[in-house]
Amino acid sequence: MSISVEPVSGTVGATVGDVDLSAPLDEGTVADIREAFLEYHVLFFRDQDLSPEAQLRFGRCFGELDTHPFVEGTEAHPEVIEIITEPDDVLNFGGGWHTDVTFLEEPDLGSILYAVDVPAFGGDTLFANQHAAYDALSDTMRGILDGLTARHSAGPQYAKGGYSTLSKSMKTKSSEHAARVVRHPLVRTHPETGRKALYVNRAFTIGIEGMRMDESMALLEFLFEHAVREPFTCRFRWSPGSVAMWDNRSVQHYALYDYRGHRRRMRRITVKGDRPH
Ligand code: SIN
Repeated sequence: MSISVEPVSGTVGATVGDVDLSAPLDEGTVADIREAFLEYHVLFFRDQDLSPEAQLRFGRCFGELDTHPFVEGTEAHPEVIEIITEPDDVLNFGGGWHTDVTFLEEPDLGSILYAVDVPAFGGDTLFANQHAAYDALSDTMRGILDGLTARHSAGPQYAKGGYSTLSKSMKTKSSEHAARVVRHPLVRTHPETGRKALYVNRAFTIGIEGMRMDESMALLEFLFEHAVREPFTCRFRWSPGSVAMWDNRSVQHYALYDYRGHRRRMRRITVKGDRPH
């Protein structure tokens, strides 16, 4: 391997060193990063100096890039969204456990986030391994979940008055389309590793097919809590120039908001994914 890879917790996340993401990468290095990505689900790179163009070039090594349906991209690059919290913001973007854009028929494969301005304290991001969460369930519970289909919608976040639209510093657009419902298997099989993962999240999963609302909410509430139990998680402390790249097919994440009165500015791009099976 041309890169160094150091795990950061027992089940998820690794720090990758000996690579400069601002320069074009050769095929061998991209293959090494991809291998580490599939093993650790979230990769962290420190002390990078990434222009938006370099970040886009890095992202394209892993597939076609996506635009966000409800967050405006930058003028120069529609695929780049800026995640900004100003000192007087009451809410932050991504401030709750979620998997990116599961309300799409083909949710993004992964996201690549670059830290531009970081508060003096706080603003860490948590990640939770959804393979580990699935594997930790009893055989009986896994048997019940395996055949189920969950309903997802952007409504709670991006319909008028939705949580994400309330974030003052983000360029979000609410839309009637936000209420659209899409269906995904509640347990998805990773298309590259064949491993099963829980595939529900508190931000976008709104019910389970064939169950009454009270039944599905009771089961989902258990799963939302179980999926993010400490043993499945890691926590990343940002510094300017840090990059995190996560696999939306196998992790949830949570941007903590514990730095009120300070500014945080990040740049995110996403790589297109396929239909979950
Ligand atoms: C997100 O993509 O949900 C935001 C993550 C972060 O700002 O740490």
